[in-house]
Order: sequence, then structure tokens, then C-alpha cells
Amino acid sequence: MNGIEKVIEEARKLVEPSADTVERARKAEREIEKRLREILEGYPEIEFRFLGSYARNTWLPESLEIDVFLLFPESYSLEELERIALEIGKRAVDSYELRYASHPYVHGIVRGVEVDIVPCYRLSKIDKIKSAVDRTPFHHEWVKDRIKGKESDVRLLKRFMKAINVYGAEYRIRGFSGYLCELLIIHYGSFLNTVKEASRWRRNFVIDPSKGRTYTKKELDSILVIDPVDKKRNVAANLSINSLARFVEACRVFLEKPSTEFFISKKQSFDKEILRREVKNRFIYCVVFERPPIVEDNLYTQLERAERRMVKILEENEFSVLRSGHYAENNCYLIFELLSGVISGVKKHYGPRFESYAHSMKFIEKNVEYSRFFEDGRYVTFRKRKFRDAKNLLEYAVTSEYRSMGKDISEFIKKGRVLEGNEILGNEEVLPYLSEFLGVSQ
Ligand code: UTP
Ligand code: MN
Ligand code: MN
Ligand code: MN
Repeated sequence: MNGIEKVIEEARKLVEPSADTVERARKAEREIEKRLREILEGYPEIEFRFLGSYARNTWLPESLEIDVFLLFPESYSLEELERIALEIGKRAVDSYELRYASHPYVHGIVRGVEVDIVPCYRLSKIDKIKSAVDRTPFHHEWVKDRIKGKESDVRLLKRFMKAINVYGAEYRIRGFSGYLCELLIIHYGSFLNTVKEASRWRRNFVIDPSKGRTYTKKELDSILVIDPVDKKRNVAANLSINSLARFVEACRVFLEKPSTEFFISKKQSFDKEILRREVKNRFIYCVVFERPPIVEDNLYTQLERAERRMVKILEENEFSVLRSGHYAENNCYLIFELLSGVISGVKKHYGPRFESYAHSMKFIEKNVEYSRFFEDGRYVTFRKRKFRDAKNLLEYAVTSEYRSMGKDISEFIKKGRVLEGNEILGNEEVLPYLSEFLGVSQ
């Protein structure tokens, strides 16, 4: 075994669930099975199946969660499916909360283990699909035998991705889903081979696992992984180009300097002194507001929208934005770094070329605040700027432009506060993110 293989064998121990955890999971599984059998006696047309990473033994020990699917005949309406699935789900678990994917579903606890009870249709053919979760039974069929013997490689890949924050297809991460990891391991055969190949991926790369083929295709903005059970679908549709880039970089660094450190998620840490020094030396602004009680994916789409809108307002007022970002914990944060937070009290205002008689006369008549001059034969004058301080502009945006910033969050933004530089440091929860944003995380 060479160095990198030794590191991988060492890392396997880190991602393998302990005998205790497996036993705890099995107990919960048997309990769910027993309860659902009983409950479903009252619903003879509905059946249940264990799907997802638990059923395929590709789950990570620190995020054990059993996915159970309730399969409904196609004759049920969507309303019936949702209502009955919640009824069944609630009865099957010890405690629960509602979560939302294609449908609302029950996320609960059974004997201390997390369980997702998700409804879908039992389809004879995939083209009758009504929502994304209906593909899941087909995914399971395709993956379950092909992944045998490679489970631990899937775990390695998931953990490797988790450590650099690119595991998960949810909007917050925009990374690789569990199913995508499994397809990669099936296609490339092992964790090591996946990492080797991925170190040379490009953004126009196509992987077709069902044919065992790869090729490149113009006009792609990120990789395309053709779903073996539904050729029209890109399994990597939610993967952002930046998550892709981060993964490719990590693969290269790992190949150059293999270490088990790549399989350990580090807590983002920061140095408050360094943060203080940096914000003093730069122009950092932050809009803080209460987190609205909406589904995470919706929250992140709207935060992104609000962030983009703020950037547009800043740019329209001639502030130069170096970087912007958003973060959500107990509160939500929109963060902006500007080239400068204070700009000239005047702005340039361009008029017509001197040749156009009528327009010139109009320009002269209308612009009396400052005198005129020419640039390349074109009229120019100055006008007083409305906002020369970014903080004032952001405060104006928060109180007067909030409506265009996402339907569920705009009212929360309106009640938000604008913080500048040092003032941001009072919000402990945003500091790890802030230090990463500023490029000074430890
Ligand atoms: P999971 O998100 O639980 O993924 O969805 P996973 O493959 O089990 O991976 P980990 O180990 O938990 O991270 C399981 C399956 O359920 C469907 C997907 O098809 C997925 O393959 N699903 C589940 C959704 O489509 N949407 C959901 O919100 C949840
Ligand atoms: Mn799962
Ligand atoms: Mn969970
Ligand atoms: Mn799940």
C-alpha cells in the first residue's frame, strides 16, 4: 500500500459506524417496521419501504437518519396523499416536526433515532412522475446492487465533501446529494479513483453512469450527471459552480498531500483581534434582521435575492461592491464589502453632444446647479449626490426599498438594522462567517 492508500484505510475507520450505533439503528428500524405494519392494516393500498442511505448502508454515523417512504397508488389525489401520509407519519413516531420537500412530511424520532417519513406515488413507469420524490424508489432499484461492496467508499466521499461544506443538495449548500455521491462511486469504482478523476473535472463535463461514459459538452455552466433512471434529469442540477470548484481543489490538494485531516469537519474559528483590525481597515456593512419562520430552501433563495437587490442599489448609487454575502442563524445577515463607504458629494451627469442643437439648449436650461463642461464634445455637469455615505443608503434601502427583497422576508428586513464595521462584531453568531468572508478565518 502506498501513502495515499494508507491514509484512506485510516480514514475508513473514521466514517464507519460503531457496532453500538448500528445496533441502535437496527432497533429503531425494527420498531418502525412493527408500527407501520400495524398502522397500515387500516390502509391496505399503501405500503412502506426503507429507501435512501440507510437502506443502502451508505449513511454517515454522525448523521444517522432512517428514510421511510410511503408508497401510494396513483389513484390518490395529491391532497389525499399529503393528508394521509402525515396522519400515518405522526402515529409512527415518538415525536415529530413537519418538514417540506416536494410535499410536507414527518421528520420524527423513534427510539432516539431520526426518521423521515416521506410519501410518494408507486409508479409503474417513471414518465408518470408527479414530483421529484417519486424517483426515489427507482433510484434505490438502480443503486442498491451496484453499490454493494463500495459502501465505505461512499461514506468516505460524503465525509470528504462534508468537511469542505459541499455535501447536500439543499439551497444553503448547493453541493452534492447523497444519490450523486453513490453514482460517482459506482461510475468511478472507488473513492480514490473518484478523487483522481475529479481533480481534472471541468465545468462542461458530462457523466453518464448508465453507459459508463464521460464526455464534454459546450454551453454547460456546471457538470451534468445524467440520471440513470430519468435521462432528462441532471442529478447535479443543484450543484453550484463554486461548490464544484471547491471540491475539485480539495481533490487536488488531497492527492498532493494526503491526510486524514480531509475527513474531519473543522469548526470555523476566528480571532476577534484580527477581525477588529480588518473591519477597521476596510468598509464592511451588514443588514441584520430577525429570521422569518419559513422553510430553509425558501429562506436562502430570498436571502440571495435580497442580497442581489442591495448590491444593485449600492451600484446604482456608484458604490463599488467588492463582495457580498448572506448568512442565517437565529438572525439573518446580509453583508457587503465596499471599495469605499464614503464617496464624493457630487456625481457626474452626462448630456448630449454639442451638435444636437435642441437637446443642448434643453440641457443648459435644466442644469443650473453646477456649470457645464465638455468631454470629447459631449456635455457634462455635476449634480449633488443623494447618498454619499453607504450606511445612509443602506438604511434608506431597508426602510424604503424592502418590498422588492423577497416576499416572506421583506417585512423582516424592514425592521432590520444596518451595522457598520466594528458594530457588526457584537453579533457573535455571525463572526465565523464574517471571518471567512473577509478571508481571515483560522
Ligand atoms: P436524503 O436527503 O435522506 O438523502 O434523501 P440520502 O441519500 O439518504 O443521504 P443522507 O445519508 O441521508 O445524507 C433520501 C432520498 O429521498 C429523496 C431523494 O430521492 C433521496 O435520494 N428525498 C428526500 C427528496 O427527494 N427530497 C427530500 O426532501 C428528502
Ligand atoms: Mn437519508
Ligand atoms: Mn435529519
Ligand atoms: Mn432523509
